[in-house]
Amino acid sequence: MGIETSCDETAAAVVEDGRKILSNVVVSQIDIFAEYGGVIPEVSARSHLEAMMPVVNKALSDAKCTWDDIDAIAVTHAPGLLGSLLIGTLTARTLAILHNKPLYATHHLKSHVYANWLSNETTPEFPLLALVVSGGHTQILYMKAHNQFEIIGTTHDDAIGECFDKVAKILGLPYPGGPSISKAAEKGDKSKYKFPHPKVEGLDFSFSGLKTAVLRTVQKELGLPISHPSHDLKNHLNEQQIADFAASFEKTAVDILVEKLQMAINEHPDVQSVVVAGGVSANKALREALPEAYFPEPKFSGDNGAMVAAAAYYEIQSGVKPTDPYKLNIYPRISIEN
Ligand code: KG4
Ligand code: ZN
Repeated sequence: MGIETSCDETAAAVVEDGRKILSNVVVSQIDIFAEYGGVIPEVSARSHLEAMMPVVNKALSDAKCTWDDIDAIAVTHAPGLLGSLLIGTLTARTLAILHNKPLYATHHLKSHVYANWLSNETTPEFPLLALVVSGGHTQILYMKAHNQFEIIGTTHDDAIGECFDKVAKILGLPYPGGPSISKAAEKGDKSKYKFPHPKVEGLDFSFSGLKTAVLRTVQKELGLPISHPSHDLKNHLNEQQIADFAASFEKTAVDILVEKLQMAINEHPDVQSVVVAGGVSANKALREALPEAYFPEPKFSGDNGAMVAAAAYYEIQSGVKPTDPYKLNIYPRISIEN
């Protein structure tokens, strides 16, 4: 059983041998946060607390399992929101002690990468490059083998998902910004506005400048000064302008990701596969721009328990030993290399 509560999804799933999904239950807090434009950590933790046990019980019953059928419990212990991680890990620790199951604590980005092994017909081959694009991270990882991660590129400031969320806020589109920008972009002209690509050395990224470029271009388009508050701009934009901004921003964001990924591929001619992971891997334009890459099934792009179970399965295969449920800690900010 995999349990995930690092951000705004309370999730549990039962997975057999790292690939076969017997159940996958996700309760999202999106409805709570849509009107705020982002996640409020304390509200998220309280919501996890309410949903956690019903979600675990539904994952068991959907899989037609009892605790006797469960071999191990896996849980996200890093990185994420402190209060949210605490609810998932305390639940997993308690269940592991109560039902006498081995406990595995997994890194959230590792789980996102392993979503690519779930239910896909073929599995990626090593060495591989993983483009991890989520609300909190933008990284390119080099994986020589299972459970071995080397960060070869990372963002200097905002994550790509965060950038989608902030641009959506400027345009008056609901949280989470990724899906709402994509939807608005369908009716937009992606070549209407030109945004510069950041000048960052090597395989690293930067997205804070892109967010500001959108802000300044919106102000300019509306004939408003740069001092005009960003939260009011949405009241001046018409539907076509919103669609054009969404489409032009999405195209620039995808182009930046693809450009850096291509650089990484050129620098690592030994790679056999490329996988894309994290919430932003649900993006249609990104999927279309990388036809050769592995993507998770869209429902496994966002946070879920199945990917946590898959990551733990491959950890076990790599010889990782279970964690003491009495001692498990959380790490709200920690690199996948630790
Ligand atoms: O992986 P995830 O569910 O949570 C974190 O680990 O951060 O990623 C959430 C992020 C949000 O910023 C959301 O706007 C973005 O993924 N996202 C998308 C799409 N669906 C979700 N971004 C672009 N296009 C999408 N279709
Ligand atoms: Zn995530």
